[in-house]
Amino acid sequence: MSRGPLIAPSLLSADFARLADEAQRVADADWLHFDVMDGHFVPNLTFGLPVLQALQAVSPVPLDCHLMIHHPERWAPGYAEAGARNVTVHAEACTGDPRAVARDLRAAGSLAGLALKPGTPLDEYLDVLPEFDTLLVMTVEPGFGGQRFLTETLPKVRRARELVDTGHLELLVEVDGGINADTIEQAAAAGADVFVAGSAVYGADDPARAIADLRARAAGARQR
Ligand code: DX5
Ligand code: ZN
Repeated sequence: MSRGPLIAPSLLSADFARLADEAQRVADADWLHFDVMDGHFVPNLTFGLPVLQALQAVSPVPLDCHLMIHHPERWAPGYAEAGARNVTVHAEACTGDPRAVARDLRAAGSLAGLALKPGTPLDEYLDVLPEFDTLLVMTVEPGFGGQRFLTETLPKVRRARELVDTGHLELLVEVDGGINADTIEQAAAAGADVFVAGSAVYGADDPARAIADLRARAAGARQR
């Protein structure tokens, strides 16, 4: 899988009354990040499967679903069946073995992602990660856009990179939360492949330019 850098604008910061237009505004992006929140796993409520299905029909960019919901084993496969490129579930929300969800997602045709909140250690999931394609390291507490990037999450990104580079894992390392022109280089230097950015893209006057700028910064930081 190409290491990118892949830029994934988050629709959480878009205008919800114009989702199709907002997807078109970021047509240059690699993935379009779709934050599903259930008001229980996180204290916020967004959109779910019917909205994903409607968006899937019009989005020029593959969809990257981030499920911040309880019972992901029940709901996640539906997003894969709807055509999402990647579907990520939270490790903290899985009641059973996360590997079962990963198998269901891959069987339904998407990549399978595992997300970790800032306080969740990576090493507890080393046994299950070989069945996942992406690892989402949350760089803020999940629930809201526009929060400050937590630098204390960088060691987890570095550890994931090391596990991939030494052949222990084969997955894309994704970061989500507080990614902008000031923070993306740190995340890239630590080894992230995929960069979710909500407010930094949709809050910009020119989202296409913001995407290009983030991509260039990530690529530059990786080379150093
Ligand atoms: C937060 C979401 C993020 C959010 C990021 O729980 O998972 O995807 O949209 O927003 P920014 O980039 O503004 O921190
Ligand atoms: Zn997200």
